[in-house]
Amino acid sequence: MKKLLYPLLAAVALTLLVSCTGSSDVPADLSIVPNPVSMLVGGRGAKASATVRTQVDATLAPEEYVLTIRKGKISITGGSEAGIFWGMQTLAQIQAQCGKKLPGVVIQDKPAFSYRGAHLDCCRHFFTVDEVKQYLDIMALHKLNVFHWHLTEDQGWRAEIKQYPKLTEVGSVRAETLVGHYGSDQYDGTPYGGFYTQDDMREIVRYAADRHITVIPEIEMPGHASAALASYPELGCRGANYPYKVQTTWGIFPEVLCAGNPETITFLENVLDEICDIFPSEYIHIGGDEAPREEWEKCPKCQALMKKMGFKREAELQSYINNVIEQYLAGKDRKIIGWDEILDGGVSQSATVMSWRGAKGGIAAAKMGNDVVMTPNSHFYFDYYQTKGREANGEPLAIGGYLPLSKCYEYDPFDQLGDAEKAHIKGIQANLWTEYIATFDHVQHMILPRIAALAEIAWNPEGRTEYDAFVGRIEKGLLPIYDVRGYKYADYAFKGIE
Ligand code: ACM
Ligand code: ZN
Repeated sequence: MKKLLYPLLAAVALTLLVSCTGSSDVPADLSIVPNPVSMLVGGRGAKASATVRTQVDATLAPEEYVLTIRKGKISITGGSEAGIFWGMQTLAQIQAQCGKKLPGVVIQDKPAFSYRGAHLDCCRHFFTVDEVKQYLDIMALHKLNVFHWHLTEDQGWRAEIKQYPKLTEVGSVRAETLVGHYGSDQYDGTPYGGFYTQDDMREIVRYAADRHITVIPEIEMPGHASAALASYPELGCRGANYPYKVQTTWGIFPEVLCAGNPETITFLENVLDEICDIFPSEYIHIGGDEAPREEWEKCPKCQALMKKMGFKREAELQSYINNVIEQYLAGKDRKIIGWDEILDGGVSQSATVMSWRGAKGGIAAAKMGNDVVMTPNSHFYFDYYQTKGREANGEPLAIGGYLPLSKCYEYDPFDQLGDAEKAHIKGIQANLWTEYIATFDHVQHMILPRIAALAEIAWNPEGRTEYDAFVGRIEKGLLPIYDVRGYKYADYAFKGIE
């Protein structure tokens, strides 16, 4: 963190107001997360109750802001309303640390990435509209601006689609849910379901937009489609008489959408028509991960399409779906983004790749000239355990892995990339898969404070401090806000437990 004394201070050194209380002549240790690009501390500050004057200055980058607290006044200049909003979040951190009397400070800050995302799987477990809004509030506090909303899965379809009512009548409910860890073979015997009406989804889009957050909906294709197939079995390779079901356990399932059936494409296009009406985002996420191909190998329709198109590998069927859908969405001025498996059968230059199986898919995509969002499971899978001791440290059951805060903070989004390729890294994102996360308290435990590490890298990767200093800044700069808001954050990092 750059902490330069405010230049005017030399003349008023004896009355320096530089700490939160205004009584010390030591520069204030203002703890801001993410760490601002520049911070000048000193001079006469202002009362926290002072009116905040805001203005837009289009010479700044759109999300850039300058927050000035000086001589009794507080002002925020932003490159746009979004910049002003991010400046407000910084001001909230200063207020939470300093109470009624704020120190003199000038902070200038802008994000390193235009895409700063957090994902939430609302399919394995369902979260209410109010809970999703709280998730957005947490994102806003950390100055993240893209909410990736995972809405369709094997274990539940959560988005109301008026042309296909069975998606929610049938597909949003599973008969029961696995108890304990994968492989336990024990089930709770209780139906589980939930879905968002189109009004609900519009409400979320509005709420997010008020916080300068874009919502990207994800409609999985061709895999993770059991709930869609349970609703409309004629879209599967095994046909209308096969007893597809909404899955009750976790994992990867062989049942996928039939690529060779033209009705599949019609279905996807119709679903996306409604999705595009609800979500104004430039990107639509088409999933694409973990789609086994053995059904395609046996399916006459899929094999006939391969022959007609001259495809040699089943992976090309997935590329075929992606290309058709990409063109369809392009007609609506939308772009596709998909998990890194979309690279497997060949990918168009215009598709954006979300790298999750580590960074290698993203690195390969950037080298090919594709845009990339990095969400490597090595650093940003917040469903992973946070300590080595796991349950012995009081951690709730998790999917696996080991991702302490310190590891998140180490992530270098530009690893192995040259300058031309770096330009293709549009941003970074944390993913929260919820197989083992049934409550919103637990959601908070998994993302807080790891999301602060993501935020810091997304705003100012060069400005990262020593890890211990980062933890200290979270404690001073964010925990007071977490506490006021009642967030159920994990405290392992603050106890030195890894
Ligand atoms: C994923 O974690 N299956 C994208
Ligand atoms: Zn098929």
